[in-house]
Amino acid sequence: MAKKKSNKVTARSGRFSGGPATEANAFTNSVKFDTRLAHHDIAGSIAHARMLYRIGLLKKREMEKIVEGLEAIGSEIVNGDFVWRTELEDVHMNIETSLTERVPAGAKLHTGRSRNDQVALDTRMWLREEICELANEIHDLQHALIELGESNRKVLIPGYTHLQRAQPVYLAHHLLAYVEMLERDYERLLDCLVRVNICPLGSGALAGSTLPLDREFVARELGFVDAHDEPMVTQNSMDGVADRDFVVEFCSLAALLAVHQSRLCEDLVLWSSAEFGFVTIGDAYTTGSSLMPQKKNPDICELTRGKTGRVVGNLVALLTTLKGLPLTYNSDMQEDKERLFDTVDTVRATTTILAAMLRDTEINIKSCAKAVKDPNLLATDLVDWLVLKDMPFRKAHDVVGKIVALAESKKKRIDQLTPRELGSIDKKLTKDACSVFNLRTAMKRRQPIGSPSDIEVDRRLAYWREFLDH
Ligand code: ARG
Repeated sequence: MAKKKSNKVTARSGRFSGGPATEANAFTNSVKFDTRLAHHDIAGSIAHARMLYRIGLLKKREMEKIVEGLEAIGSEIVNGDFVWRTELEDVHMNIETSLTERVPAGAKLHTGRSRNDQVALDTRMWLREEICELANEIHDLQHALIELGESNRKVLIPGYTHLQRAQPVYLAHHLLAYVEMLERDYERLLDCLVRVNICPLGSGALAGSTLPLDREFVARELGFVDAHDEPMVTQNSMDGVADRDFVVEFCSLAALLAVHQSRLCEDLVLWSSAEFGFVTIGDAYTTGSSLMPQKKNPDICELTRGKTGRVVGNLVALLTTLKGLPLTYNSDMQEDKERLFDTVDTVRATTTILAAMLRDTEINIKSCAKAVKDPNLLATDLVDWLVLKDMPFRKAHDVVGKIVALAESKKKRIDQLTPRELGSIDKKLTKDACSVFNLRTAMKRRQPIGSPSDIEVDRRLAYWREFLDH
């Protein structure tokens, strides 16, 4: 049903014979989600108004009234007093319309501007702030991993490949692997920020403006400057409004961050099971079963792992939305915001909750010690021992494989085979070979950079502590 013609000055007035059908407005309006951009929209409008005054398109008094009006709207939004009208389509038209109702000069605010460059501006400003918050949260998660590693510095566990016990590692070394991953996420985040932090305002609808807009002034006002304090503005008006690469880039790095967290959570789910028993997650960060009274479920880990699906899905949704779009702005692009907001909300929530959960997680030293006692974990050390006795690696691999098979057939552990049994496989295997089965010295022998030796683990723990504390 078409609405009655209204006298209000809106994006439709002039050209249209009446308001949109109720269901058309319900379908197209973005007020239900884009009000999150309101404060950035206001900041952008204030900078734009100051620029219009600078270039002589607003009188001083007009500019001041506009700024005052926008600030009043900002306070009303904070207090929850601002009335959002869905019939005004989006956050931008709501704020501009309300301003014009209060301040006649508000009718001049949109001079030289389009919602196309305005929404790109607001989204960039919003994301810029969220990136800074997330960056700190990632460093805090790394810190929580370091704390857990440091307070369990001497705990050894089996490292796994194919989820089969492989070689011993310090638990701290395992946790430090995630610290490395998260640092790459952090670096990608800051790298993405460089491209987010470019001001598109002044691109107009798509083809710039005939008005003498001072784009660099606006950029400076809004903090769009590089490391040398030079203003950063987009260099092609069409790209300025059509580009959502910065959203895709963020969602893509967020997807990888989510994947890293998901893998950490999968380790924790396994480790907290009775089968592993390596960790106990605090009661405050686990849930019970409605039926089975004994259950304690690693819910936060499972949900973090599960939410990776939506973060990856958001990235795919965005890429799919953009792939067929001709230049420049198309309404399809309004679909970017919910995907972006959801991605930011999700990864910020998982990053902070994981840090809190890790700070309430205990390591079960006995279970770890029991699991890592398996001497098969040092079978490769025995190969290395033979290599140092000048046996070719392939031969040594074969010899130790036979030792493992012999022990299995005798229902013994490999470190329980007698010198005679060892010698029966290869005469190079003397009694001294058994020295490889001392776990503590075995760990000290792992000297190359990045190995889980005491020296290397201490070195990286110290590096990260210094790095994250300063
Ligand atoms: N609500 C729109 C969005 O989120 C703002 C830009 C609309 N531009 C337009 N010409 N309809 O993308």
